[in-house]
Amino acid sequence: MNPHPTGYSVVARLLHWATALVILGLTGLGWWMVDLSYYDAWYNRGLDLHKSFGIIAYVLAVAFIIRKLIGQAPAPATPLTTFERIGAKAAHGMLFILMLLMPVSGYLISTSSGDGVDVFGIVTVPALIKTGDQARDLAIDLHYWLAYVGLGIIAVHTLAAIKHHVINKDRTLMRMLSGR
Ligand code: HEM
Ligand code: HEM
Repeated sequence: MNPHPTGYSVVARLLHWATALVILGLTGLGWWMVDLSYYDAWYNRGLDLHKSFGIIAYVLAVAFIIRKLIGQAPAPATPLTTFERIGAKAAHGMLFILMLLMPVSGYLISTSSGDGVDVFGIVTVPALIKTGDQARDLAIDLHYWLAYVGLGIIAVHTLAAIKHHVINKDRTLMRMLSGR
């Protein structure tokens, strides 16, 4: 077996782009829905959708991480400077933390009163602990700050990918899209 694969498998790419889409969608939906008034038709519908897709985001994150742990990491598409190597490692590490902590903090907000999380009316993820108001407020703060700090990290990550494509003219972005 090749010890240094040069690209990402179709599963790795699908998981990456599905995760990116769901997280960005949830950030937009979350930002929009918290300003709705109680009398808005989307007040409950928006939150229900947010929670359902939020659970999907968690499942995708776990699948992404399992795939990464059992798969082989491709060698960089191009030789990296020490700064780029450390920067990419740090950014990817923070993105993995974000992928897990966003759904977990959201789950802790929603289950603080002991209710489970209904997912598209199909299954209910049970509340594991009834944390109460103080922990709920803490989870709300965490969810809020992580979402918007996360957006900054995603912006840097995206700019780095575009810089590789446009300035370095290497395959870093293309191989996340087309495999090699
Ligand atoms: C919520 C949004 C996103 C998240 C959470 C995310 C997360 C990640 C993570 C964790 C990795 C490392 C994968 C690994 O170690 O196997 C990665 C790689 C990568 N991402 Fe993203 N990403 C996001 C959005 C984007 C966007 C919008 C782009 C491009 C426009 C992008 C381009 C790439 C590329 C090209 C790689 C491969 C880098 C390499 O081969 O060194 N990502 N992403
Ligand atoms: C990657 C996954 C997620 C992302 C990116 C995300 C993002 C957001 C954002 C941006 C907000 C608005 C924050 C504000 O401006 O006040 C928000 C609010 C909220 N989210 Fe999420 N969320 C995710 C997952 C979840 C999950 C899984 C749940 C519950 C099961 C959840 C429940 C909530 C609730 C209840 C609020 C309203 C909080 C409040 O009352 O201020 N979220 N989310």
